[in-house]
Amino acid sequence: MGEGTLMLRVAAKTVEAEGICSFELADPTGAPLPAFSAGSHIDVLIDDGLTRQYSLCNDPAEGHRYLIGVLRDPASRGGSAAMHDRVAVGQLIRVSAPRNHFALAHGAGRHLLLAGGIGVTPILCMAERLAATGAAFAMHYCARSPARAAFRDRIRASGFADAVRFHFDDGDAAQKLDIPALLAAQDAGTHLYVCGPKGFMDAVLGAARSGGWPEERLHYEFFGAEVAPAAGDQAFEVQLASSGRIIAVPADKTVVQALLEARVVVDTSCEQGVCGTCLTRVLDGVPDHRDLYLTPEEQARNDQFLPCCSRAKTPRLVLDI
Ligand code: FES
Repeated sequence: MGEGTLMLRVAAKTVEAEGICSFELADPTGAPLPAFSAGSHIDVLIDDGLTRQYSLCNDPAEGHRYLIGVLRDPASRGGSAAMHDRVAVGQLIRVSAPRNHFALAHGAGRHLLLAGGIGVTPILCMAERLAATGAAFAMHYCARSPARAAFRDRIRASGFADAVRFHFDDGDAAQKLDIPALLAAQDAGTHLYVCGPKGFMDAVLGAARSGGWPEERLHYEFFGAEVAPAAGDQAFEVQLASSGRIIAVPADKTVVQALLEARVVVDTSCEQGVCGTCLTRVLDGVPDHRDLYLTPEEQARNDQFLPCCSRAKTPRLVLDI
């Protein structure tokens, strides 16, 4: 985590749904916090060296607190489990100032917000902001079951409750979200915002792209999954363009890990292919993109990759390092 970090106090910790806790963070002296816009996230330093990004899910008009929602990921390497088990009310934790890679297109005539599971966090913040500005929007919130849908009571009690539809995997067929039909029914010029697990995102973005939605009207933010070596991963080499040095990347290590062992440090944050911090130019060779950060067009150019998770399709990649 770089400059501009804040030490905040956990002012409240609330169970919001099965497996989901919210954490309210405030300045220990009561000072106002740096302002944020809808769709922003903060980096939270959980343990030494372990940083995770969480979207802010409170109303951006609130200057006294940041609210984040954390899903306990059973496959967690420590991030979400540590937040659930070890972070308590009263504790001080270090966070970054808010940053936004998932901003609202304020000039749009209409906005369609789609949330899957814990992806509701930035979407809820967007709904608060759109409602406050009187913008035309609809929100659809998909979750496995009502018990796993965080912030249901808050949404029902909000002034924008009528703009929100819930869809539950364990509910009857009539209430399930028909993504292609929903997208086809939108007015021209509607902007789409989607956040949730990868399967949900792929379904929504795939339907939008095959329905002819232009990229500039698609806004999305993936949640990172744990980066695990996949069966069939091969060893390859990376070459540093500056020195010509060649470093072997074994099948069970990421490029970032192999570089680190060779004392070449690449800045990282999420280590899940989500944040873009480790973005590195590729001068030769073809990457095997595993990230959730680059657009399909950017990936297809093969001139940059995310070495915290991506690998190589060719025996060697030459990196601009
Ligand atoms: S460290 Fe976040 S994308 Fe690589």
